[in-house]
Amino acid sequence: MRVKKAIFPVGGLGTRFLPATKALPKEMLPVVDKPLIQYAVEEASAAGITEFIFVTGRNKTAIEDHFDHSTELESVLTAKGKHDALKLVQEMMREPGSVSYVRQQEPAGLGHAVWCARNLVGDEPVAILLADDLIKGPSALQEMISAYEGGNMVAVMDVDPSETAAYGIITAGKDDGRQIEVKDVIEKPAPDKAPSNLAVVGRYIIEPQLFEQLGTQDEGAGGEIQLTDSLAARIGKAPFTAMRFSGTRFDCGSKLGFLQANIAFALDRADLSDDLRQWLKDADLG
Ligand code: UTP
Repeated sequence: MRVKKAIFPVGGLGTRFLPATKALPKEMLPVVDKPLIQYAVEEASAAGITEFIFVTGRNKTAIEDHFDHSTELESVLTAKGKHDALKLVQEMMREPGSVSYVRQQEPAGLGHAVWCARNLVGDEPVAILLADDLIKGPSALQEMISAYEGGNMVAVMDVDPSETAAYGIITAGKDDGRQIEVKDVIEKPAPDKAPSNLAVVGRYIIEPQLFEQLGTQDEGAGGEIQLTDSLAARIGKAPFTAMRFSGTRFDCGSKLGFLQANIAFALDRADLSDDLRQWLKDADLG
């Protein structure tokens, strides 16, 4: 089934990353030399997404500027003959009119952020990508869209049983190794209450009917309007599937995950990997 729109919720406060995120949006933190949000947009593009909807908040104007022309920069790069750098900043531009922004006036939770995009989505399925869940490898969203046949779909990965309280956790039904029937999902269960160790990571495809459910604005875990609660409420009314994606996910909303992502992505870069590998070998880091 064709999915052509994607929502990028970027309205959160990024409190785990203070003070860096006091004035800088968390989604603009760079992994090597590219902001997290650009990785997410590239993953969506690779999956065939052509309409990009950002749910922003106050202090997030750097994201809008990032996806717009910087005329002064481009004219300086042109004048100095820095063609590679110019290509880099021009190639990331999307087709005019394909990027929209809507403001979430208060950070009331991920479910609320997604609901704020309802009028821009209309009556069709839409993808959701959380930029702080950075996935290295093939586009996870592409894998999901290829398998999507309607209803709701989430990406999942196995986590250590001690970590369930940091995630939405599914109750698994039929499992073919890649696609899993979701019988229930609960937000942030303690390890002794978790129905499995299959954790939802930040990639979703939702049916348009979910917006009505989100509109009930019921608060869930942490006093926030949770996306998972609305997904759970649609069980039995629409198919709900989880997809084990093949890439590696880094939790760039946490400091450790962010550091690991920087090292993993840098080790893959031709211009950095040899020197970094050598330094890691030589440096007495322990
Ligand atoms: P997180 O809970 O990871 O982000 O939400 P956060 O609240 O910004 O971070 P911490 O926990 O305070 O450090 C996951 C995603 O949902 C978005 C965030 O921007 C992030 O991409 N989000 C969250 C919103 O857009 N609005 C919200 O009200 C909450």
